[in-house]
Amino acid sequence: MNDAKSPLGGSAAIAAAELAISARGLVKHFGDVKAVDGIDLEVPRGTIFAILGPNGAGKTTFMRMLATLSRPDRGEASIMGHDLIAEPDAVRAAIAMTGQFASLDEDLTGRENMILLARLWGFRGSRASRRADDLLSAFDLADAAHKQVKDYSGGMRRRLDIAASLIVTPGVLFLDEPTTGLDPKARQGVWRMIRRLAGAGVTVLLTTQYLDEADQLAARIAVIDHGRKIAEGTSRELKAATGSGFLNVTVADQARIGDAMRLLEETLGAQPHESAEGGQISVLANTAGAANGAIGKLLAAGIDLTDYSMGQPSLDDVFFALTGHPAEADQTQEAEPA
Ligand SMILES: Nc1ncnc2c1ncn2[C@@H]1O[C@H](COP(=O)(O)OP(=O)(O)O)[C@@H](O)[C@H]1O
Ligand SMILES: [Mg+2]
Repeated sequence: MNDAKSPLGGSAAIAAAELAISARGLVKHFGDVKAVDGIDLEVPRGTIFAILGPNGAGKTTFMRMLATLSRPDRGEASIMGHDLIAEPDAVRAAIAMTGQFASLDEDLTGRENMILLARLWGFRGSRASRRADDLLSAFDLADAAHKQVKDYSGGMRRRLDIAASLIVTPGVLFLDEPTTGLDPKARQGVWRMIRRLAGAGVTVLLTTQYLDEADQLAARIAVIDHGRKIAEGTSRELKAATGSGFLNVTVADQARIGDAMRLLEETLGAQPHESAEGGQISVLANTAGAANGAIGKLLAAGIDLTDYSMGQPSLDDVFFALTGHPAEADQTQEAEPA
């Protein structure tokens, strides 16, 4: 039997059925801005997948297209087996996106909000309050159930947002930067909920600017920049491709940063870069011995350091290695001269 003759060739059809999301060549331009410039993506069912990229990379635009909220200029996609363009209603029935379909009333309590939404989704009588209570306790909000939402902390609010989008369990949950602006403890709370959802079989596609978030949660990560996918793999694969053994140094005198960068490049043979916050230099050193030697050279040249460390690559490092530019910089530098 010749598989190539079958338009739905056996194994390819089975593989497609196991995908929660399959996107090919999605494009969205806003005037001259190529917000999304031809992205392919395949997300297996029941997994957590992270789209990692700096501000303005095109993460939200890409996700909004997959969620039927914005029409692609080109390309195609299917979500839980439904074609994005031909069957938008079926796609919408299979997904949830936090903050998009659920709007919370600040003056109501968490529980009142959840019961209202459950009724809206067709839960009748005591089934609505039972659904509300189940979700509130699943999201560690049982104690806060009778508080007005306006008195919730950032982390509680974010968890309630997610819970509110899950009244009907979706096949795919889209989370656009679920922990941006939260403190570390609140972030961990949100991460715990996301893991629990994935454990229950929900496919989660999330966007993030943080390597550690992608690292903690996602089976696979796609790195996007300027509307294009520039790398994809597991966190381990991305870091291995970037290298291990990054030396970070903080130079005491800002005026010596240029000298320090030159000396580090000379000594280590890798291109150093300044962190987005400024003041800290990061460079691939490979071994502790090489890093030690480089620090010695800096000190011998009279360049004082306030801090140094050796570690895994950061988001800045991964970005710099992939693109040759730091994660944040260029958009802001080129934007509207005053
Ligand atoms: N509605 C819009 N109109 C014009 N430009 C937009 C619009 N939405 C996004 N953009 C531009 O598209 C690019 C990608 O934006 P976005 O998808 O929001 O990135 P991210 O979510 O990664 O920060 C940015 O340059 C942004 O300014
Ligand atoms: Mg965004």
